[in-house]
Amino acid sequence: MTDLVVVGSGFYGLTVAERLATERGLKVLIIDRRSHIGGNAYSANEPETGIEVHQYGAHLFHTSNERVWEYVNRFTAFTSYVHRVYTSHKGEVYPMPINLGTINQFFRSAHGPDAARALIKEQAAELGGKTPENLDEQGVNLIGRPLYEAFIREYTAKQWQTDPRELPASIISRLPVRYTYDNRYFNDTHEGLPVDGYTAWLERMADHPNITVQLDTDFFDTSQPINKAAVVGQVPVLYTGAVDRYFDYAEGELSWRTLDFEQEVLQVGDFQGTPVMNYPDADIPYTRIHEFRHFHPEREYPTDKTVIMREFSRFAERSDEPYYPVNTAADRERLLTYRGLTEGEPNVFFGGRLGTYQYLDMHMAIGAALSLVDNKLSPLFSGTKDV
Ligand code: FDA
Repeated sequence: MTDLVVVGSGFYGLTVAERLATERGLKVLIIDRRSHIGGNAYSANEPETGIEVHQYGAHLFHTSNERVWEYVNRFTAFTSYVHRVYTSHKGEVYPMPINLGTINQFFRSAHGPDAARALIKEQAAELGGKTPENLDEQGVNLIGRPLYEAFIREYTAKQWQTDPRELPASIISRLPVRYTYDNRYFNDTHEGLPVDGYTAWLERMADHPNITVQLDTDFFDTSQPINKAAVVGQVPVLYTGAVDRYFDYAEGELSWRTLDFEQEVLQVGDFQGTPVMNYPDADIPYTRIHEFRHFHPEREYPTDKTVIMREFSRFAERSDEPYYPVNTAADRERLLTYRGLTEGEPNVFFGGRLGTYQYLDMHMAIGAALSLVDNKLSPLFSGTKDV
């Protein structure tokens, strides 16, 4: 007998399943339409080189949430990896996010923090107090035209496949500029990569006698015994798939951006000397290149081969993987309608990035799943077998 069906084996679904199986002794069935667990955090070793490749784009773990940190450490140890990003503009490489090093290299200057701050403030005053009407004006307003045009404008145009003058100013509310030489990408207390890789971590979460995982099973495929029509109303369901899909797009589709990845094995030991290089210029079609060996300098990878992945960004069609919510005003309105509909579903809980139409980092998905267990699922199952 199954106490709970979890649709989706990403971090959100796995966290809920693991907690309820371990803490309450419940029997949980996880289904996923993919042929592997882990959702977008899944990784696999590239066969020719053995280098771990994050199949759905680079995943860097970071959190300041102590509860999440304690929880994830039950399943994996973390390396001391610290994320840093560089950007290649007009044949020159600069540190990101924009910091004192970037500013001084770009302006061929040796400003201290106050002088750099004054310079950017002066350049950002170009609009003279006018409210920015589009993303282009917003960018200039936030960091001044020279830095915006060099590092942000074309990169954003590539991400959205749209001229920033046609994009709403609301897409960016702030562009971080650091007036120190610190180019550490994340500010969180804890950061690192799982020592044995993401898939080992994800598999350990699912490794419990009360958890059954059934792959290649789409919740909407009525030819499978576990499907929406057969299950909803019979057994509590945690649904972490797309919320609009659940209601058969009755209120229209929520829009997403997707990414295309072009992976290549190169016959060199080191291609770019760093894990991530951004390409903010218009003449290069991709937005960045990942070189996976650099995520694990502690591992013994081949010294004459490397794996790179070029990343391209575009609007998603229905058949694409949905990666980042576009979140237009129409999307927000639609989401509210869908949220209303979710309340009418008997014992179905909607969670995760697809179920809530929200970008969630891994630590956020795990934290939200722990809260759902505390606030809704534990009370629902109270009275059942506490272990
Ligand atoms: P997730 O998408 O992982 O899992 C949902 C699962 O549901 C999928 O396995 C899917 O197949 C399944 N599913 C959907 N519909 C179904 C159906 N009808 N039937 C059955 N199964 C169905 N985070 C971070 O902390 N650091 C990082 O560096 C990155 N990097 C990053 C890069 C890119 C390109 C993306 C898109 C995302 C990140 N993330 C990230 C975010 C991270 O991937 C995210 O936090 C987790 O995927 C969230 O887990 P969920 O379980 O919510 O969704």
